[in-house]
Amino acid sequence: MIQGKILVTGGCGYIGGHTIVDLINNGFEVISIDDLSRGSLLMLAGVEKILGQSIKNYKVDLSNLEDTQAIFIENPDIVGIVHFAAYKSVGESVLEPLMYYRNNINSLVNILQCAKDYQVPHVVFSSSCSVYGNAQSLPVNEQTPLAVAESPYAYTKQIGEVICRDFAKQNEGYNICLLRYFNPVGAHPTAIIGELQEKPENLVPVITQTAIGKRLDMTVFGSDYDTRDGSCVRDYIHVMDIANAHTKALQYMIKGTNKEACEVFNLGSGDGVTVLELIKAFEKVSGKTLSYKIGPRRNGDVVAVYADNTKACKLLGWKIQYSLDQMMDTAWRWEQNLKMDEISHLN
Ligand code: WQD
Repeated sequence: MIQGKILVTGGCGYIGGHTIVDLINNGFEVISIDDLSRGSLLMLAGVEKILGQSIKNYKVDLSNLEDTQAIFIENPDIVGIVHFAAYKSVGESVLEPLMYYRNNINSLVNILQCAKDYQVPHVVFSSSCSVYGNAQSLPVNEQTPLAVAESPYAYTKQIGEVICRDFAKQNEGYNICLLRYFNPVGAHPTAIIGELQEKPENLVPVITQTAIGKRLDMTVFGSDYDTRDGSCVRDYIHVMDIANAHTKALQYMIKGTNKEACEVFNLGSGDGVTVLELIKAFEKVSGKTLSYKIGPRRNGDVVAVYADNTKACKLLGWKIQYSLDQMMDTAWRWEQNLKMDEISHLN
């Protein structure tokens, strides 16, 4: 039974593409907006291959309000929006702060303007654990005070949450779920879709590209932190678990079970894993020995962050399905598939 039409912004991106698979597998109809500045039609093609159906993508820049409004006029039956479209690299945001503020804030404001103008009552906002900064106590829960954002990227998520809260407060009947992702990794179990970045900065694609020989080696950014082995601690969570949480959040609001107009949820596994431990987990699963060197710390990095995820599990009925080994296994199989594709295109 169709549960209604959902607009996914950034649907040609990593988390957007995986979420479209989960939404459709759970009975929703989906359309995508993606200007393809970071997303790729290869992602959409993979999603269509997995689902065996086509997905419409509107190649529109959300910073252009008129173009965005035209999509809502053409689709008056949209019941919910999942807003992923944003730049998301911690390192890049330190180098290009204005590009991050312009893109990430303008696109959110325009999407909320359209939700109001075209009466779309349910919105899911892609937030991030980076809003916690260097939290004083761990694990972080949704009441943990937000420390100073360590990067412009994290600031755009902190500001984004405030904008969503003010919108929900001023507009009766509109519900918003703020989903704070920890570190999404891995790929769909078919390995037909995964993280698509030519020159990734995120740890897991850097590991898999090093293992497959796309990179000569990699650097561990700092081994002198106050952690159990000196490297940073993160909470890695499989991208399909993240995807399913979006489906659960929409169902939570559509059923009218949400407790407040704007609610925040941590989407993490609850396990803190260091960089060096993740490398070891990858080596165990892949059978590869990784060539890496220890380098200086990276600007913008927090020392450690991992989630208390009980609120999402309790209120959304979210159940984590994938282990750390499965995260490494699917990421590695995806990287190997990419290599096969490249070779087949050469022949
Ligand atoms: C993880 C750790 C690096 C690369 C991510 C996303 C961001 C947000 C939060 C969702 C850090 C170390 C990395 C490398 C390394 N997610 N590292 N060598 O910075 O935690 O942020 O999660 O909203 O969008 O980017 O992820 O994978 O870049 O870094 O040592 O070559 O791995 O220093 O400690 P990060 P990351």
